[in-house]
Amino acid sequence: MEVVIAPAERLARIAADAVERLLRDRPDAVLGLATGSSPLAVYDELARRHTEGGLSFARSRAFMLDEYVGLPADHPERYRNVIEKEIASRVDFAPGAVQGPDGLASDVVGACAAYEQAIVDAGGVDLQILGIGTDGHVAFNEPGSSLASRTRIKTLTRQTREDNARFFGGDLAQVPTHCLTQGLATIMSARHLVLLATGRGKAEAVHQLAEGPVSAMWPATILQHHPHVTVLVDDAAASRL
Ligand code: GLP
Repeated sequence: MEVVIAPAERLARIAADAVERLLRDRPDAVLGLATGSSPLAVYDELARRHTEGGLSFARSRAFMLDEYVGLPADHPERYRNVIEKEIASRVDFAPGAVQGPDGLASDVVGACAAYEQAIVDAGGVDLQILGIGTDGHVAFNEPGSSLASRTRIKTLTRQTREDNARFFGGDLAQVPTHCLTQGLATIMSARHLVLLATGRGKAEAVHQLAEGPVSAMWPATILQHHPHVTVLVDDAAASRL
């Protein structure tokens, strides 16, 4: 695990550099996209490089990590719509090239299995962008998640719902209670993991991620077993290392 401590603006550039190197080398590479505030500066940087530097996503594909269950198709906080707004619509992905778990599926088990298969059929994810929750969750693999998990439905913890209430006008009641999420084993099968964390609120999670014992109670600790992980943190998030 490589840990880079740098100011937030530089972290976004480092992550964008990794994506750009991959796409220049292999234009048909498969990306893994995360939601949350942590990757937003990376998406801004990628959109800028697309517009100003000709970085193309036209032959690439992307898979999202997770999705809320039950949010209407046009809800602005539906992760499909968030990813569309923050990155997909700002670059030149081909139609249908960005996929996410279907939070409105009636057959949830079937939809999760189909999603796993779609990732496999695409050849697997080459570079997965990740954030981390204050409780050490990655995607929506909350504490207690199986380290061997695959895409499935999960109940969100109160902590995560409170953390994410800011996206729902601060109203906890509006935050969905369930999600579909790639499992920890799904995420571990990506070839390069790039995790971003900033701010003191992430310090304990980053400490556990890099230095804690591998445990389902801090799901991100499974990344210690991955052969190619880049952890990008600012001083505040690194303050407990
Ligand atoms: C959500 C997402 C995670 C993300 C986490 C942290 O729970 N499902 O993928 O890592 O939020 O979000 P933020 O980056 O806003 O702190």
